[in-house]
Amino acid sequence: MKTILTGDRPTGKLHLGHFVGSLRERVRLQNSGDFDKIFIMIADAQALTDHAGTPAAVRENILNVALDYLAVGLDPEKSTIFIQSQVAELFELTAYYLNVVTVSRLERNPTVKAEIAQKNFEASIPAGFLCYPVSQAADITAFDANIVPVGEDQAPMLEQTREVVRKINELYGETLVEPDILLPQNQVCRRLPGIDGKAKMSKTLGNCIYLSDDADTVAAKVKEMYTDPLHIKVSDPGHVEGNVVFTYLDAFCSDTTTVAEMKEHYQRGGLGDVKVKKFLLEVLEETLKPIRERRKNFEKNPAEVWNMLENGTKVAQAKAAEVLARLKHNMKIDYFK
Ligand code: TRP
Repeated sequence: MKTILTGDRPTGKLHLGHFVGSLRERVRLQNSGDFDKIFIMIADAQALTDHAGTPAAVRENILNVALDYLAVGLDPEKSTIFIQSQVAELFELTAYYLNVVTVSRLERNPTVKAEIAQKNFEASIPAGFLCYPVSQAADITAFDANIVPVGEDQAPMLEQTREVVRKINELYGETLVEPDILLPQNQVCRRLPGIDGKAKMSKTLGNCIYLSDDADTVAAKVKEMYTDPLHIKVSDPGHVEGNVVFTYLDAFCSDTTTVAEMKEHYQRGGLGDVKVKKFLLEVLEETLKPIRERRKNFEKNPAEVWNMLENGTKVAQAKAAEVLARLKHNMKIDYFK
């Protein structure tokens, strides 16, 4: 069996970083026909670990994320799209997994560490937030997933999941499937920088291009995009490393020959930012226009989207119940069977 599980926190609309880091790959895998099952989770419970005070916003973003999914081409006929919090089995699995993970191991998780610093949580970390990698181990193992397509920032979560799997299997016998991470082939897609040149495109940093941005907004964002501060006159030789416009071309433009030529010209001098940006905008719009149009269509009928999510959640719940029953059986805590 080849099973995929992956997902996103509903903390906002999805952006180009999500797209090249994971969404584009998911759609490709979905349409390859190589997989027996594909589960796509909207991780609202994980979002609540650091947004406990604003469940209404999380709720609104569940719809946003679902619309983005449908817009990029995830197809509920081929992929089970579901809502994490409505699968109670995940919380039960988490409770048992927590017993095989130490607090110090959680504190060493590099992604959690970075988030704690970014959110100024140092003095008071919500316990649920510190433990979310364990809940993520439940997300993955509840579906017997062996492939998890995600961006690079999720690698520590996969590592920790594999540790949980090994420990559980060691204690209770072969119970859980050990998953592998699947990163994008193209290096630049693993962590797309923001339009300001900062290491990561992130809502908190305010440097995103969203899948749902209209054409004018995308054009304005490309215009203000960080390039090479030393490239002042068109005739000056420019740098392409760290130049976001070229990074995005590497991530989005399939015509690599043209991109290589443009880089060469830019480095030599004589190619202006305005020209390169104009080309990038065309390339981005080729991807974004159909996504935007499909999103508009699905937006007209939110009830249908919720219905799709409800159906997917039922399917997901049935699978998670099977895995939980297997664990409880192997732990010999299925007392009333
Ligand atoms: N941590 C992921 C994010 O921040 C979301 C997520 C939750 C996830 N559970 C998962 C991703 C399981 C992959 C597998 O976007």
